[in-house]
Amino acid sequence: MNPTPAVCPAWLASLFQQAGGVVSFRQYMEWALFDPNHGYYGAGQVRIGPGGDFATSPSLGPDFAELLAQQLIELLQALPGDGRRLSLVEIGPGEGDLAADLLQAIHELDPELMGRLELVLVERSSALRSRQQQRIAATKINKAFMPPLRWCSLEELAAAPVQGVVLAHELLDALPVDRVVLKAGRLQLQGVVLQNSGCLDWCLLPLPEPMAEAIATSDCSVPPADAPEGWCSEWHGCYGSWLQNLSAAIDQGVLLVIDYALEAERYYTSRRAEGTLMAYGGGAAGLDPLASPGAQDLTSHVCIESLNAAAASQGWQLLDQRRQGEMVLALGLAERLHALQQLPPQKLPEALQRREALLRLVDPAGLGEFRWLLYGRGAGASSLSLKAAPDI
Ligand SMILES: C[S@@+](CC[C@H](N)C(=O)[O-])C[C@H]1O[C@@H](n2cnc3c(N)ncnc32)[C@H](O)[C@@H]1O
Repeated sequence: MNPTPAVCPAWLASLFQQAGGVVSFRQYMEWALFDPNHGYYGAGQVRIGPGGDFATSPSLGPDFAELLAQQLIELLQALPGDGRRLSLVEIGPGEGDLAADLLQAIHELDPELMGRLELVLVERSSALRSRQQQRIAATKINKAFMPPLRWCSLEELAAAPVQGVVLAHELLDALPVDRVVLKAGRLQLQGVVLQNSGCLDWCLLPLPEPMAEAIATSDCSVPPADAPEGWCSEWHGCYGSWLQNLSAAIDQGVLLVIDYALEAERYYTSRRAEGTLMAYGGGAAGLDPLASPGAQDLTSHVCIESLNAAAASQGWQLLDQRRQGEMVLALGLAERLHALQQLPPQKLPEALQRREALLRLVDPAGLGEFRWLLYGRGAGASSLSLKAAPDI
């Protein structure tokens, strides 16, 4: 990590002082991302898109949503329905691009389904909720065909649980994580300390007993047997409480997680000696996580085994998993690229821009490596799967 002292802004210094001057990294990440007045997401500082802090698949243009819509329609149509309204729940919609473009695509591909659907958006940040409202209001769908639309928390949804499809696109990589460090042959918890100089620095804290127990009984080798002194990585205790809240909100349906994810054996290796934590800001990656809290993103990869275990303990069964590159091919990448070649010459700039975006979605060194993880809950969902790529 960067040894340059990171000056702590006054708003955060006051939180540190109230907490006694030292907190876990997870608490620091929670404040830096979600403080309602100063946090990167909480206060709406984030800018997602090609000209922003980082680009996500939906922020590259509507093609991603148009491809994903085919998969979501298949899943929604396969749920038993029982005459009840189906819910499409997106958690962590960011700028609202995916929700808006999915609505447009479902409206065009399956108007009958649109009439049985509601869109539920779950967003922690009130600043982002406003941006999502504006983005969705700008869709070209005639008001008469708009499905019911609401923003609520998982806790509010739990009052009247819904059935349908839950989408978590690049959500789990933003959940605050703990970090563990191997020091003198044993794991310790990574902390952050506010020094007398007013700067933030790393420190070590005792590993809480419940976390030590959870690590010891998990399917993950943390630390790996050949880990060097100082080896550090993330621990995702956050999945359990999030999935518990989700289970209370959904009585039947599927959860589609799309995110940076690694198998535990690739996550927890001696070669990955600093884990997967990254700080992003202004289009740059690899920044110091303690610098500019509230003005930069902090993110870590999903650990697949940890997520599977937390999901199973909350009644979510892993149904299927694929890489994004494979999914985009299965959903019609080739046909789309071909159709772009047929566009008239005056649409050449649009065709080139969309071609580049489509190729980024399958780039094996980037978004193509994203995982699509499908979990099911309830008898009606147990036989569902993701669309398979055609045999070539
Ligand atoms: C990395 S952004 C992804 C945005 C969008 N899904 C995309 O891919 O462009 C993470 C989003 O999740 C939201 N978020 C993070 N934790 C959340 C939680 N526990 N519940 C609801 N939203 C959350 C953030 O405010 C933000 O909108």
